Amino acid sequence: DLASATADEATEAGASRKVSTDLIAREVKRRRTFGIISHPDAGKTTLTEKLLLFSGAIQLAGTVKARKSGRHATSDWMEIEKQRGISVASSVMQFEYRDHVVNLLDTPGHQDFSEDTYRVLTAVDSALMVIDAAKGVEEQTIKLLNVCRMRNTPIITFMNKLDRETRDSLELLDELESVLKIQCAPVTWPIGMGKNFRGVYHLLRDEIMLFKAGEERANGSVEIIKGIDNPKLAEMFPLEIEQLKMEVELVHGASHPFNLDDFLAGIQTPVFFGSAINNFGVREILDALLDWAPGPGGRDATVREVKPTEEPFSGFVFKIQANMDPAHRDRIAFLRVCSGRFERGMKLKHLRLNREIKVSSVVTFMASSREQVEEAYAGDIIGLPNHGNMQIGDSFSEGEMLQFTGIPYFAPDFFRVARIRNPLKIKQLHKGLQQLGEEGAVQVFKPVTGSDLILGAVGVLQFEVVASRLLNEYGVDAVFEGTSISSARWISCDDKKKLADFEKSSAGANLAIDAAGNLAYLASSGVNLRLTQERWPEITFHATREHA
Ligand code: G4P
Repeated sequence: DLASATADEATEAGASRKVSTDLIAREVKRRRTFGIISHPDAGKTTLTEKLLLFSGAIQLAGTVKARKSGRHATSDWMEIEKQRGISVASSVMQFEYRDHVVNLLDTPGHQDFSEDTYRVLTAVDSALMVIDAAKGVEEQTIKLLNVCRMRNTPIITFMNKLDRETRDSLELLDELESVLKIQCAPVTWPIGMGKNFRGVYHLLRDEIMLFKAGEERANGSVEIIKGIDNPKLAEMFPLEIEQLKMEVELVHGASHPFNLDDFLAGIQTPVFFGSAINNFGVREILDALLDWAPGPGGRDATVREVKPTEEPFSGFVFKIQANMDPAHRDRIAFLRVCSGRFERGMKLKHLRLNREIKVSSVVTFMASSREQVEEAYAGDIIGLPNHGNMQIGDSFSEGEMLQFTGIPYFAPDFFRVARIRNPLKIKQLHKGLQQLGEEGAVQVFKPVTGSDLILGAVGVLQFEVVASRLLNEYGVDAVFEGTSISSARWISCDDKKKLADFEKSSAGANLAIDAAGNLAYLASSGVNLRLTQERWPEITFHATREHA
């Protein structure tokens, strides 16, 4: 009979929904999504490689390294990366470890690419901070940490290169606390350094892991000695052990004990010592990441917070990249899944365009290859083919209108005017710059007066990348000339009339429209910006903007 059949169906639907929510909850719990932040040369590439080795995602050391230096054919993502030997492009690597799915988001270390790096950090749930123990806190470390702080991202710290002469460990912690304003909770403590580096003492487990140099593969088992008072130790390294005992006493007295809640709140960082190149101390970091770092959490959207375990799919694009692999001449939008389950062949709603799209050939990024995605959950990064309709910050859902927030654009510090040698190529120039602008490779401003296009960047190397890509991908031979512009600010004003007055005033000649259609003020100097701000107190000048 009809009534009971409908009731049966309802129960069935209810039961299958339950299975699905249980599955989603289980999968979300298994996920860890993190990025590595460091100053160039601290050892990020080396550490990435060792993490992949440990997980079994790659078998041989040298794979990631080769990609960085461009020695490897599949790694030549961009010509410029090869020439410079720096990592221009950030990538995503997924691997499994201890029944967890780990998504490691690589961030370009070169300071000229900081804007891209910043946005990658909006897609992670925790960060691993690598510090060269010989150098301590460096400029880029500070900047990146400040970005993590915007979202209170929990941070695990790795003090690297203990096989070299380093600075005093207590002094390093002191510097972290005073410069980065973050509490340090040492979890391991080094025994000696440089030629006398003996290993680390695990403060929570009361065991000593003996250092062995040169582990190219992951199977290297470490010798462990239980207990700091173990007579075996005193026999092995009488000098270092006395020093260690003294330091451990100091550490217990002076530093913070590890506290999970403080770590999760971004107030405290657990600190590990080791040597990435020697594969030493790396397993401890991976374990900390799985045991302590948070899985995917709730994400703020314009209308409400979205929980990772909600059944409907949602996510946002945090990065767009072209021609990652010359074999596929395409552009890929990197989307962080925020909730639900992505399934192959699924229809998604593109919220900015208010349009349903069927996305085929969605890829996932394994350590050494890309593969078709069968399914993905919160925390995972999937690559959507982008035919020019996606921008950084775009949100996708199964229908609900929610725009994820907190994906920033930063006001550029460097400016150029784009000109071309062959005027017939003007269309290609505009198309190229439009696409590169959407990708976030460079910011493009169209002044309200005049026909020149102004390029803005956070670092000057971006211009070289853009020039090279214009030539290779769009066949446009462009020259970038200096301009008199020194800074840019996005403009907003609640009072429509005041804004119109501003546009009509002499300052209005300095206005421009960016690639996403936002109004910006291009100042010729710091003084000019300040005077304009003073003259127009009702107008707000923003140094960052969010997705339109
Ligand atoms: P990055 O990605 O943060 O820029 O750093 P990367 O891993 O490329 O490391 C920078 C340099 O530091 C490399 O040396 C690397 O071998 C070295 N390094 C990394 N970890 C350790 C460590 O634990 N101990 C020591 N002693 N060195 C380490 P390079 O000479 O610039 O490159 P390469 O010739 O070794 O490839």
